Amino acid sequence: MSKRAILAGIGGYLPNLIVTNDELARSLDTSDAWIQERTGIRQRHVAGEGETAAFMGARAAEAALRDAGAGPGEVDAIILATSTPDQAFPATALRVQAALGVTRGFAFDLAAACSGFIYALAVAEGMIRAGQARGVLVIGSEVYSRILDWQDRGTCVLFGDGAGAVFLHAARDSGDPATARGVLSTHLHADGRHGDILYVDGAVGRHDLPGTLKMNGPAVFRQAVTLLAAAVEEALAANGLERGAVDWLVPHQANLRIIEAMGKKLGLPPERVVVTIDRHANTSAASIPLALAEAVGDGRIRRGDLVLMEALGGGLTWGSALVRL
Ligand code: COA
Repeated sequence: MSKRAILAGIGGYLPNLIVTNDELARSLDTSDAWIQERTGIRQRHVAGEGETAAFMGARAAEAALRDAGAGPGEVDAIILATSTPDQAFPATALRVQAALGVTRGFAFDLAAACSGFIYALAVAEGMIRAGQARGVLVIGSEVYSRILDWQDRGTCVLFGDGAGAVFLHAARDSGDPATARGVLSTHLHADGRHGDILYVDGAVGRHDLPGTLKMNGPAVFRQAVTLLAAAVEEALAANGLERGAVDWLVPHQANLRIIEAMGKKLGLPPERVVVTIDRHANTSAASIPLALAEAVGDGRIRRGDLVLMEALGGGLTWGSALVRL
């Protein structure tokens, strides 16, 4: 019988420091009203000195393992999605591996910007199906506060720091798509022709150009609405589902207007769409697992629920995933 990847545990970590829109408006030509109206953001968490991508990723991973009732001995692989690794190498995933006390298997980072979690989930699921690993930690951990231009009001108000993780575990596929738990399908896309509408203008080792995030907001907005709509339809079609058939949308949290448009597209009432952007802002690859951790933690999303996830990020990269919890 073939294998399926079950989401056995979910966890998240947010930095202690919260920065409100009003606090940003003290040193920037912006306002709480503008930010809330255009994006839905009220505040964001900002990492302190010790809250590195590895530190936050390890805390989120520990929470996911605890939630699964699993120990480090059950982790065969760690895939960590980030655009803000602590070092060029070792990969942040290996720092997390060491922090967790995992001494076998393999670990690597994956760079797909804000789509990183969907990409990492797809890679992990493929490895579990192929029998290369039984237990895989999929982590999104981001410290965007490090790559923001804090003078650029068009970008710095949009992002926050944090980490989220899921522990995927192999299970026998029951063969019945109506009840089977786990990752049901993933859909990945990339189009490098749009590389210049959302990017970091530097790299590790470029002392002349350490790099900050640049974005053409309206251009990204237009692409997001079209490409994400196609990605959610693709997930429905691949699973023979009608509009309104999924229980929850857990979207990447970039802009409340985009999130609401996707909820409508799926025929879901607003209470079936998980929103954290108001409190977390855009935490890039961490946003989906953080939102999932919150909605599972407070009892909204339950075992057996059908959850659709979607994300778009720099690259452009985008995709969707359908999961039964
Ligand atoms: N505070 C106040 N005014 C601001 C501002 C801020 N923080 N940022 C931009 N503005 C101003 C602009 O300068 C512009 O002024 P002008 O009309 O005098 O030139 C005006 O607000 C409108 O700017 P615009 O960029 O057209 O606004 P928008 O409605 O498109 O909203 C975004 C901007 C960034 C919120 C929106 O484009 C967006 O969310 N894009 C997608 C972002 C995204 O998904 N990114 C991540 C993908 S992972």
